[in-house]
Amino acid sequence: MALLVIAAFAGLIGGALPFSIVPSAGCQTTKIPTRHPRFDAPFDAPPNARGTTTALASTTSEAPTSHGGVTKGDTKGANLLLTDLNISTGAGNTILKSINFRVDPKERWGIVGPNGCGKSTLLGAITGTVRIDGGDALVASKVRVGYLKQTAVSGSTRTVREEAASEMQDINDAKFLMDRLEERITNGDASEKTLNDLVSAQSRFEDVGGWTQDQDVDLVLKGLGFQPSDSDRLCSDFSGGWQMRIALARLLLSQPDLLLLDEPSNHLDSSARDWLATYLANYQGSILLVSHDVALLSKAVNSIAEVSGQTLIQYVSCDYEKYLSEKAFRAKSAMAEYERNMKEAARLQEFVDKFGASATKAASAQSRVKMIEKMRREGKLDPPPMGIVETRWKPSLVLPDPPKGIGEKLLVLKKASIGYGDGSPPILEGIDLVVNRGVKLILRGPNGAGKSTLLAALRGKLPLLAGERIENDRLRLGVFTQDLAQELDVSARAMDLVTDYARGGPDGDITISNQDARGVMGRLGLSDEKPLRKVGELSGGEKARVALSMFALKASNLLLLDEPSNHLDIECIEALGESLSNWGGKDGSIVVVSHDRAFCESVGFTHVGTVMDGALVIEERGLEERDWARYDIAGSASGGCDDVVQTAELTPEEKAEQERKRKLAFNAPKRMVKIEEMMAKAEIKIAEYDEQMMNFGSDAEKLVEITKKKKKEEDGVAKLMEEWESLEVIMAEMCAT
Ligand SMILES: Nc1ncnc2c1ncn2[C@@H]1O[C@H](COP(=O)(O)OP(=O)(O)OP(=O)(O)O)[C@@H](O)[C@H]1O
Ligand SMILES: [Mg+2]
Repeated sequence: MALLVIAAFAGLIGGALPFSIVPSAGCQTTKIPTRHPRFDAPFDAPPNARGTTTALASTTSEAPTSHGGVTKGDTKGANLLLTDLNISTGAGNTILKSINFRVDPKERWGIVGPNGCGKSTLLGAITGTVRIDGGDALVASKVRVGYLKQTAVSGSTRTVREEAASEMQDINDAKFLMDRLEERITNGDASEKTLNDLVSAQSRFEDVGGWTQDQDVDLVLKGLGFQPSDSDRLCSDFSGGWQMRIALARLLLSQPDLLLLDEPSNHLDSSARDWLATYLANYQGSILLVSHDVALLSKAVNSIAEVSGQTLIQYVSCDYEKYLSEKAFRAKSAMAEYERNMKEAARLQEFVDKFGASATKAASAQSRVKMIEKMRREGKLDPPPMGIVETRWKPSLVLPDPPKGIGEKLLVLKKASIGYGDGSPPILEGIDLVVNRGVKLILRGPNGAGKSTLLAALRGKLPLLAGERIENDRLRLGVFTQDLAQELDVSARAMDLVTDYARGGPDGDITISNQDARGVMGRLGLSDEKPLRKVGELSGGEKARVALSMFALKASNLLLLDEPSNHLDIECIEALGESLSNWGGKDGSIVVVSHDRAFCESVGFTHVGTVMDGALVIEERGLEERDWARYDIAGSASGGCDDVVQTAELTPEEKAEQERKRKLAFNAPKRMVKIEEMMAKAEIKIAEYDEQMMNFGSDAEKLVEITKKKKKEEDGVAKLMEEWESLEVIMAEMCAT
C-alpha cells in the first residue's frame, strides 16, 4: 500500500512538471524528496506510473504527512492553508515571513509582486521543492495539486497528443480497466461477472468524459496554438517554448483541484494567452496564478495576493483593477490613520505636560498617560507596514548611444525565404525588408505566423533558405530575447557574464569596467551581492535583468527584441519601454516582437509590420487601436470587491448632527485655549482657598464658607475639563472624516 500511495503522489505532481526524465519504475520510491529539500534543489519527482494515477489516498490521521513534496494535513476546509510560513535563503536572508493564507475551493488567486520578491519560492514551498524554515504549508487530504514551474524542462519521447493526455487520470484509469476486461473477454472469459464488470467500467468511462477525451485534448492543444498536424509529432521536435505549452496542456487536461501556475504565459503568443485567460476564468478548481501579465490576471483571477515587504497582502474578491485601486486606498487610509494617531498622542501628551503637576488634574493627566501607553501597546503609534504603504522601487535603464555615420541601410533582407528546412516548406517567402536607420518597427501578426522566425533570420541566427541578407559593414547588433535570458549559463557569476559579453567579440569594449557593469546592474535592481551570485541562484526576472544588463552595456545601432517583457515585472518593463523610446534618434533602429500593449505603446514605433500568410507587409505608421483588437486580449474583466469601504447615506438628523460637530470642531482650538486659561485661573483660586483654610483653621463658620467656594470652583474646573475633553473627541472625529 505504501508503495502504491507514493506512486500515486508522484504521478500527480510529476504530471504537473514539464517533462521529467522517466526513471525506471524501481527508482520511484527513492526519487521522492524528503519533506523539505534544500532551497535550491529542483524538484524532480518521477512521472506517473500507469494505473497509479487515480486520486491521492486520503490520510486517515490529522497529522501532516508528506506526499511527493506536498504536505497533506488538516486545512480547516480550505484546499490550501499556509500558517505562519517562514522561508529564507540558504545564506539566511529572509524571503517570506509569517505568511498566513487560505485558498478555498474554486477561489482563483493571482500572486503578484516584483522580480525576486518570492512568488516562485511560495509555490515551491507548497509543492515541497523549497525548504520551509517555520510554519506549515498544508494541502487538504483529497486535493490533487498540479504545478507548472516557471522554467520548462524537456525530455518526453511521446507524441504531443499522448503527452497532453497522459495525466487525464480518471479517464486513463477507466480506459485501462475497460481494456483489461475486453482483453479477458477476447481470451475466452465470458463469465457474467466479467461482463458486468465491463458494463460498469464502460459506464465509469462515460461518466468521466472518456468518449470526449479526444475532443477535449484537441480543444486545449488548439487553444494553446498547436496545428492539428502537430498532435502526432514527437514532443522532442518542438522548441523549449512549445514544450512548455505541451506541459501546460497536459496540466490543464489533468484537471487538478488546486492549480499552481508560475508565469504560464511567458511562452505564449497573444492568441494563446487570450485562450488561457478564458480557460482559467472558467476553471472549476482553485488556482494560484503567479504572473506579471496584467491582461491575463485581469481576466483569469478574482482575488489578488501581493508579495510585498516579505509578506503576503491579500485583496479578497478584487480583480486586478480593483486591487490597484484598493491598494492605493489602503495605503492612503493606513497613512492617514497613523498620522491621526500620532496627532492624538501628541495632544494627549501636551495635556500631560501642561497639567501633570497640577494637584486637581493629576488624575486626568495620569489617565492620558495610560491612553498613550494603550495606543503604543496596540501598535497605533507604529508606522504602517512597508508592504502596505511601500511604493515600489523603480529600476532604470540607459542604453548607450548608437555609433554614428553608418549610412542609411543597416540591414536588408532581399527576396528571403525563411523556414527551418528539413523538407518542410518555408514559413515566409519573398520577404523584402530594409531596416533603415532611425526606424522603430513592431512586428505583429497572428499566432504562429512567423514573427520570431523573421527576427531570428534578421539576426542571422537562422540561415535563409533562399534570398540574401545584407549587413552594413558597421552594423552593431544588440539582441534581447526572453529565451536568451533563461538560457544563460546557470553556473556562471552574473557579473562575469555581463562583463565578458560587453568586453568580448569584435564589437566589444575592453574599457568597460566592473564598476560600469555594477552601475547598470544596480540600476536594474541587481544590487548588493546579487551581481556576484551564480545565475542559477537568481529568480526568473532577475535572470532577465542580467541579460538586459548585457544588452545595455554594448553600444549598438540595431536592437532586436523578441518578447522582451516576459519574466520582467511591470516596473522593469516600463523602464525598458522608456529607454527604448528615448534611444536611437536618427541613428539607431529597433525591431520588436511583443504582445505587451503597454510596453509597445511606450516605445513609439514608426513602422508596423504585419506577418501573415507567409508574407510581410510594412506600413509607415504608429500602432493603432485596431492593431490590438485583431490579435490581443481586449480590455479587462470587471467584478466586485467585497471589502471596499462604502460611504453610507446619512439621515437628515445625522447630517444636522455632523454639521453641529463640524462647527464645534472649527471653533474648538480657540475654545480649548480659553478653557485652559479659565482652568488655570480656577487653579489659582483653589490654591488661595487652600491657603485661607489653613489660616482660618479654628473658625468653623469661615471654614464652611471657604469650603463651599472651593467646591464651586472645583465643580467649575470639572465642567471645563469635561467640555475640553468633548471638544478633543469632536476634533479627532472630524479629523477622521
Ligand atoms: N536557487 C536559489 N538560491 C538562492 N537564492 C535564490 C534561488 N532562487 C531564487 N533565489 C532568490 O530568492 C528570492 C526569491 O526568488 P523567487 O524566484 O521566488 O522570486 P520571484 O518573485 O518568483 O521572481 P520573478 O518575478 O523574477 O520570477 C530572490 O531574491 C532570488 O534572488
Ligand atoms: Mg518567479
